[in-house]
Amino acid sequence: MDFFDAVTQRTHIRRYEKTDVEDKLIGVMLYMANQTESAGDLQAWEFIVVRDNKVKEGLYNAALRLNIIREAPVCIVVCADLKKQSLKYHERGEYLYSIQDSASAITMMIVTAELLGLGTNWIRAFDESKVKEILSIPDNIRPVGIITVGYPLERSREPVRSPFEYLTWIDKYHKKSDISYLYQTGPKENVFKPIVNQILDKLKKKEQSSDKVNK
Ligand SMILES: Cc1cc2nc3c(=O)[nH]c(=O)nc-3n(C[C@H](O)[C@H](O)[C@H](O)COP(=O)(O)O)c2cc1C
Repeated sequence: MDFFDAVTQRTHIRRYEKTDVEDKLIGVMLYMANQTESAGDLQAWEFIVVRDNKVKEGLYNAALRLNIIREAPVCIVVCADLKKQSLKYHERGEYLYSIQDSASAITMMIVTAELLGLGTNWIRAFDESKVKEILSIPDNIRPVGIITVGYPLERSREPVRSPFEYLTWIDKYHKKSDISYLYQTGPKENVFKPIVNQILDKLKKKEQSSDKVNK
């Protein structure tokens, strides 16, 4: 599976296998999440890896008793460090940048999981104060998502997204464009994957020829 497939074929997971997830794979997910860009390079995220069934039971109760939390071998609670961003960027840092940083890390984590053959679900519907209490999270840290991780047993249906051309404007809000690639007919995968592959091929050839020059 390549990056394009990991993004386009990913769906959230409804059921997990009982198979455990090795720590080294969780390590890769955390490492990649931590490589994400962040406002002021402050990395206003923190991760709490939960494997303990009792703690998971607490999270399950705090998150509308969503069974997937109990079933997943691992849950990663991603938190935003409000203080880190507010010290540099004040109110906007506290309420916006810290959440943006964490969301960006979560996305990277989720795509990485897909590349590793794992599946995830990003859960946001939980009682924040209960989650904070269960995990002893201090005031300045805000849990942003519970990410369930495991080997997929059942995926959700392939999502039907609103086409991005209906969500994209050029130069001004609500101004449409006739840029040709926006209005290609047929499945977008058939249009865009060959473009990506072509570019990757080109880059590979360039790399190989510069290797030869350097030798
Ligand atoms: C910010 C965010 C919050 C979400 N919160 C929940 C949640 O609380 N419970 C849940 O079951 N799924 C949650 N999801 C999963 C979405 O429902 C799911 O991603 C969406 O339906 C699209 O499906 P897909 O992930 O299979 O593409 C959340 C996803 C995101 C990005």
